[in-house]
Parts: sequence; C-alpha cells; structure tokens
Amino acid sequence: MTDQYGRNIHYLRISVTELCNLRCRYCMPVDGVCKKSHDEMLTEDEIIDAVHAAAVLGVDKVRITGGEPLVKRNIVSICRRTAQVPGIREVCLTTNGIRLPQLAAPLREAGVRRVNLSLDTLNEEKYRYITRWGELSDFQAGLDAALAAGFEKIKINTVLIGGFNDDEIVPLAELTRQYPVDVRFIELMPMVGGEFSEQAYLSGEAVLKALPEAQPVAPDGGVARLYRLPGALGSIGLISPISAHFCAGCNRLRLTADGRLKPCLHGAAEYPIKGLTRAEMERVMADVIWNKPSWHGDLDALHRSQAGRNMNQIGG
Ligand code: GTP
Ligand code: 5AD
Ligand code: SF4
Repeated sequence: MTDQYGRNIHYLRISVTELCNLRCRYCMPVDGVCKKSHDEMLTEDEIIDAVHAAAVLGVDKVRITGGEPLVKRNIVSICRRTAQVPGIREVCLTTNGIRLPQLAAPLREAGVRRVNLSLDTLNEEKYRYITRWGELSDFQAGLDAALAAGFEKIKINTVLIGGFNDDEIVPLAELTRQYPVDVRFIELMPMVGGEFSEQAYLSGEAVLKALPEAQPVAPDGGVARLYRLPGALGSIGLISPISAHFCAGCNRLRLTADGRLKPCLHGAAEYPIKGLTRAEMERVMADVIWNKPSWHGDLDALHRSQAGRNMNQIGG
C-alpha cells in the first residue's frame, strides 16, 4: 500500500533475534544485549501471521535480519513458511555468514533467493578487532557455502569506517572481479550505542575517489547507487544514508524481534503487534504505513539516530 507521501511500501524487514555470535563495534556492545524473556519475543507463528498481514497490504518482499538470523534455532522453518505466504515474491536474508556452511543449502532449499553478507575488512587481525572475536576464515567458509548453494544474488555489505578500512576500498571492491558478488559500501550511521566517533564517518564519495575506473550502471531497485569495475562479475554499490539520504524513495517497514513495527529505521516511533490476531495486525500495519514519516531527520555526529535501539535490535 502507499503511504500519505505516495511511497509504495512493499518491503518488510523482519528481525528474528537480537542475539548475535559476533559483536561488531558499530552495532552491538561487547556484553551483547540483555536477553529478553522468551515471552516478549514474537513466536514463529506470530512472525508468519505478520507476514500474512503484510502481504494482504501489498508487501511482496521480506528480508530476514537480526541480530544474526542464523543463530535462531528455527530459522529454516521461518524462511520456508515466509516464502510460502501468498503474495510474497522474494525472501532474502542478511547475515554475517558465520553459520552459512551448515545453513546455506537448507535456506536455499527453503526458498531464500538472495543473501547479503557483512564484511568490513580482508585482514584477519582487523576482522577479529571489528567483530571482537570473529575469524575471517569462518566468513570465507560462509561465502564459499553461499556461492555453492546457488543463491540468485550475493551482496557483501561493508561499513565504511575512517581510519579502519578506508585503505581497503580497492581490495574489497576487487572481490567483484574474483566472485559473482556485489560489494556495497555503507556510510556509518550514528547509532546511540555505536562505538565510533564522528572522525570515523567517511562519505561514500571516498569510494569513488579510490576507484576512478568505476563506471556508473543502472540501479537494481535497492538503496545503493551502483558502479562497476571493468571486467567485474558484480557491481559496486554506495549506500549513503548520511550524505544523500534516500527517504523519498523508501519502500520499507520494519518488524523487531520483540514485536514492534518501526516505520522508520531512525525514528523513535514503534507500534507493538505481539499478541494480536492476524486481522488486528493488518489494521495496525495499515495505520503505521500510512503514517510513515517523510524522512529520518538530520543524521550526523551531532544528531544521532533517534532509533533508541542499537542496530542489532533493528536489523539495519
Ligand atoms: P537489497 O534487498 O539487496 O537491496 O538489500 P538491502 O540493502 O535492503 O538490505 P541490507 O540488510 O543488506 O542493508 C544494507 C544496509 O542498508 C544496512 O546498513 C542497512 O542499515 C541499510 N539500510 C537498509 N534499509 C535502510 C533504510 O531504510 N534507511 C537507511 N538509512 N539505511 C538502510
Ligand atoms: N551503520 C551502517 N551500517 C551498519 N550495519 C550495522 N550497524 C551499522 C551502522 N551503525 C550494517 C551491517 C550489516 C547491515 C544489516 O547493517 O554491517 O551489513
Ligand atoms: Fe552481529 Fe551483524 Fe551486528 Fe555484526 S553487524 S554484531 S554480525 S548483528
């Protein structure tokens, strides 16, 4: 359905857990999150009810996020049932990749069409630093498993962090020559609990400076501006929520693991749907979509996200 600003909201992002097996410094505090009681979280049936309600309102794309969605015990079943909901054309997933060696094939078989993997560095020590304990070899095994499982598209998400990975733009971009993957560079969003200061923010333009041979190509319907290196198998994307926000074209609605609908990633507004019937969920959802804010407000070092949650509790 369209909101009051005429945007067609047809993409639902569902965070299925706040938990994660890593602790990326821009995303999660080292102690993790205070584990909420089981009763506060949506059940699998409630998640599927929400997908049905959304589909009735015109949602045709669902992305499963986290935390890390692959630490969720029933993740394959959630994906399978989501893909079977009438009207849902595409189920995708965003993951750190660590559990893909076990799960890539079952997820593909369950109907997941595309996966996006997070990778901020190609250096083993830096990978351990940014994720606080992750092993780059585990990421590589996950990427290999995703490639072998035959997903329709694999994208790699790299958060641009000044002083950390600005010297790796070229080798990360080169992954599009080595593998049939897209690599997208994301501007660091100032979340309340994020560890980095304003000096760490780097505009997406830094990517274009580092890659003078990249040529613009047509967008794929996502939030990234796309480029391509000569001879590459995949594209390079710039996701610039800070320097060039894309709110006017926003097509999303979010659902958190504890059952709150979020009309905007960076807004404080949340609307609970836990415990509601499918029909009630549909009514609340229609209302939330209609009242989706026109944009996320100023976002920079002085104006931190109003989300009131860390990224692991929203799912990006
Ligand atoms: P595609 O379906 O492949 O286009 O994926 P996606 O870009 O929608 O999803 P993904 O989970 O890979 O998100 C990539 C990055 O974009 C993450 O850092 C998200 O936080 C960011 N992002 C996604 N949606 C929004 C949005 O509505 N607003 C802002 N500011 N950032 C977003
Ligand atoms: N700014 C930008 N991107 C972020 N992500 C997590 N936290 C932030 C942040 N503060 C990214 C992850 C993942 C995606 C879902 O969101 O790297 O790829
Ligand atoms: Fe976990 Fe993803 Fe957050 Fe990293 S960015 S801590 S992998 S949820």
